[in-house]
Amino acid sequence: SSDHLRHVESMAQLPSGARRISHLNAVILGASLASEENDLVFPSHDFSRQALVSSPEQYRKMYESSIEDPAGFWSEIASQFYWNNKWDPEVYSENIDVRKGTVKLEWFKGGRTNITYNALDRNIEAGNGGKVAIYWEGNEPGDDGQLTYAQLLEKVCQLANYLKHVGVRKGDAVVIYLPMLMELPIAMLACARIGAVHSVVFAGFSAESLAQRIIDCKPKVVITCNAVRRGSKAIHLKEIVDGALIESVKNGVSVGLCLTLENKSAMKREDSKWQEGRDVWWQDVVPQFPIKCSVEWIDAEDPLFLLYTSGSTGKPKGVLHTTGGYMVYSAATFKYAFDYKPSDIYWCTADCGWITGHSYVTYGPLLNGATVVVFEGAPNYPDSGRCWDIVDKYKVTIFYTAPTLVRSLMREGDEYVTRYHRKSLRVLGSVGEPINPSAWRWFYNVVGDSRCPISDTWWQTETGGFMITPLPGAWPQKPGSATFPFFGIQPVIVDEKGNEIEGECSGYLCIKKSWPGAFRTLYGDHERYETTYFKPFAGYYFSGDGCSRDKDGYFWLTGRVDDVINVSGHRIGTAEVESALVSHPHCAEAAVVGVEHEIKGQGIYAFVTLVEGIPYSEELRKSLVLAVRNQIGAFAAPDKIHWAPGLPKTRSGKIMRRILRKIASGQLEELGDTSTLADPGVVDQLIALRDCQ
Ligand code: PRX
Repeated sequence: SSDHLRHVESMAQLPSGARRISHLNAVILGASLASEENDLVFPSHDFSRQALVSSPEQYRKMYESSIEDPAGFWSEIASQFYWNNKWDPEVYSENIDVRKGTVKLEWFKGGRTNITYNALDRNIEAGNGGKVAIYWEGNEPGDDGQLTYAQLLEKVCQLANYLKHVGVRKGDAVVIYLPMLMELPIAMLACARIGAVHSVVFAGFSAESLAQRIIDCKPKVVITCNAVRRGSKAIHLKEIVDGALIESVKNGVSVGLCLTLENKSAMKREDSKWQEGRDVWWQDVVPQFPIKCSVEWIDAEDPLFLLYTSGSTGKPKGVLHTTGGYMVYSAATFKYAFDYKPSDIYWCTADCGWITGHSYVTYGPLLNGATVVVFEGAPNYPDSGRCWDIVDKYKVTIFYTAPTLVRSLMREGDEYVTRYHRKSLRVLGSVGEPINPSAWRWFYNVVGDSRCPISDTWWQTETGGFMITPLPGAWPQKPGSATFPFFGIQPVIVDEKGNEIEGECSGYLCIKKSWPGAFRTLYGDHERYETTYFKPFAGYYFSGDGCSRDKDGYFWLTGRVDDVINVSGHRIGTAEVESALVSHPHCAEAAVVGVEHEIKGQGIYAFVTLVEGIPYSEELRKSLVLAVRNQIGAFAAPDKIHWAPGLPKTRSGKIMRRILRKIASGQLEELGDTSTLADPGVVDQLIALRDCQ
């Protein structure tokens, strides 16, 4: 139709070099991409007409102004929030180039604000106190609750007052280890209200991993609950915390207070282990505190939270986000990428233990005054229709999830979806890993009845918010492509030498110039921050991802290029899994690689060499997997253990992972040159052992 043509024509002017095609780079472009890049899915006319950004032209205008005048663009958005003290005339100062000294990013410096005030008080003052802030849906269908903005503020204030009472001050760290109960966002917001720095640890992490994080950030308080039901199982969270606190003490970090919520539906308090003097029941103390709590005004560049994430070495990185820029960025990205309107009911399936739960369960939506669904349970409990049951129950309009969930539900068949109405849905979202076009199609056609645009949002813990994302009414989508950059973001693709490549090409994804939501440092290790992100390609932020750009300028993320694997959207360092494996007394050496996995995106494939004289057995395999579960968490358990009497190493002793990746994925014809190996014979040995274990 002419409408479609209008779209295609104006797309040719999108600001990403689409018109400058380099033939050399076109050759490098993957063959699979070539067939998909012509597959355009258009938003309906009705959708575009009502959208905040409704055409490529409108996007282009806004994008250009965000690049030409970042200070003006971001100041205007920031001015929608309350600032107790306005920022200095200079909106940002940035040095993204490590060659020019130390990397230092600052936004809205000199400004003072409070993110909780802006998320709650400000919306209440605007007359939305009676609007539902959170619908909570428990693990068991029928177990639910809700809080209006006014009620949420009261709960937040009570906890904030309690934390102050026990001596938590501005700048102190608080570790939160909770499942998806309402108390999780409440605890985050309470910390932010008083300027305490929260560090949420995903409640699927083991005691070891929790201890590692506690030892690093030395919190004044740990907030947890006694137990949680997940599907049909009960998990004793408090016992995990007990283990972590004992381990921390051994490492010289003693946490004086463990505030524990009694989660009655999972476990009675009488059955919970208890340490007098250290442990306090939330229900015994918090409700006694006043429902009003004054706001601590926080400098824009003061820390808001720490969130640990995996890198290519064994030690997790404490990604630090500050207050002002993160607030502005999480709110603006939420609004535009989901085309948010005040009448929307929004549900993001992510856990607050990950960045998605920070920016797009808690802060982004609440800053916009949105109604958010918080779901405690598992998406396949009691059956695979649970998500759509919840969508119908709360009339969810925006549904944001991960490709791994889409694929696992797709496998169960359409029946579970089509038995529900889903008429309320209008925008879908995807995050965590590249979404394969067939999963995209199923999500679009079956879940969204070919009616709802999909925002495939590319971003990272480090970026704080969306970087490359569709604006759902603005331009046609291509299944599997995250499309174009958000306002203010200048993605570039560079070659091995760090030269920018234009037009149609593949290479390493970097970002030129800073943006308000960028992380400011790695906690306690600014040098690692610079080395990991700003040194590989001088003058740019390096994402660690590979990326292609097609003839129309669409970006296609192709996955990590470092030693990080992405399992069900969870970022796991191969070095972390290896170190867990070698902690097993019978394991001498381990090498871990990612392999393609139908549901999880990537699976974990571990080669292990045993201590001299120890025979490989099924029992040993199980205990190696258990070692990883205990050290990291169940989500990092290897899918395959491959017994390796020897590993392919160069003469200088370096493990050749390239060869291991090929063996793991069965590409035995493509092993490449093995002549540089110290002992080429180990390759045949590994291949022979591939199928007999
Ligand atoms: O490889 C990219 C992948 O997830 C990584 C970031 O992981 P994390 O910091 O845990 O944050 C996950 C939630 C933002 C990226 O380096 N990734 C995330 N979203 C996408 C993606 N890859 C492709 N497409 C996406 N939409």
